[in-house]
Amino acid sequence: MYTRAAATTVAALMGAGALVLPTTHAAADTPTVSSTAKPGRPLVVSHRGASAYAPENTFAAIDKARELGFTWVENDVQRTKDGELVIMHDDTLKRTTNVEQVFPGRAPWKVADFTAAEIRKLDAGSWFSPKYAGQRVPTLKQYMNRVSRNRQSLVFEFKKPEIYPGIEKQGLRVLRETGWLDKAHVSGKLVIQSFSADSVKTVHKLRPDVKTGFLGTPAAADLADYATFSDQINATHTSISAKYVKAIHALKGPHKKRLEIFTWTVNDGPNAVRAADFGVDGIITNAPDVVRKALRKG
Ligand code: G3P
Ligand code: CA
Repeated sequence: MYTRAAATTVAALMGAGALVLPTTHAAADTPTVSSTAKPGRPLVVSHRGASAYAPENTFAAIDKARELGFTWVENDVQRTKDGELVIMHDDTLKRTTNVEQVFPGRAPWKVADFTAAEIRKLDAGSWFSPKYAGQRVPTLKQYMNRVSRNRQSLVFEFKKPEIYPGIEKQGLRVLRETGWLDKAHVSGKLVIQSFSADSVKTVHKLRPDVKTGFLGTPAAADLADYATFSDQINATHTSISAKYVKAIHALKGPHKKRLEIFTWTVNDGPNAVRAADFGVDGIITNAPDVVRKALRKG
């Protein structure tokens, strides 16, 4: 079923050194963290961490991805009332924290209406399972340090950047301060993506060396325009076809390498195999182990 052969390896595209943890760095009592990338196989990215098994966008979710053996994780970055960048998908705190209990009079509980100190008080794990009670909403700085500690790599998403003016510059500053904009990271451990083309363009302008991704499925005729500022077109798996993937691969991105496609959110084996057969470069999934197992069968 899994037929893609001899395609350019993801390892080559992303920088092979970034994909496999040197064994000298692995603690003796922990599993070696490696990507599932094999020649011609898509990179598997844990969406909001291994969010099928642990509360999304928490330390627990990226630790779980690591425990399962996955290097690449994805996140969502937003800004608090007092200007701290935090890891949160929704623009309200309601779904993934206990904010309604802690701050009952503060509907609609927007991230942008709470200070970092207030958000620090919230439980971001109990909604998922009592087992994860006490998980916090990480600040971006805390999160980057944790990803570093785990020797993981990151697909970093600016979420709703239109409501946070200047967030790209601020996010890049935190990445620089946490060591994520040095050559080793930029060459193979980091992609910055957004649904906002303007935001991706801003990132590309501020740091042309950073790999970028546009979230969406532009018309094939428009792909060449996107390829001027985005290295990846990251589309929903239901919106793509072999023809679309081929159209992407026919182009070169801003770094003069083949334009790539990471597809999301693929949480079952058959759709993972379907996407892999189309030739996608990456699969973003809540259940990375499910995707890995499906692709290994091919
Ligand atoms: O990385 C792809 C995916 O995260 C985009 O959608 O809404 O889950 O952030 P969303
Ligand atoms: Ca996301």
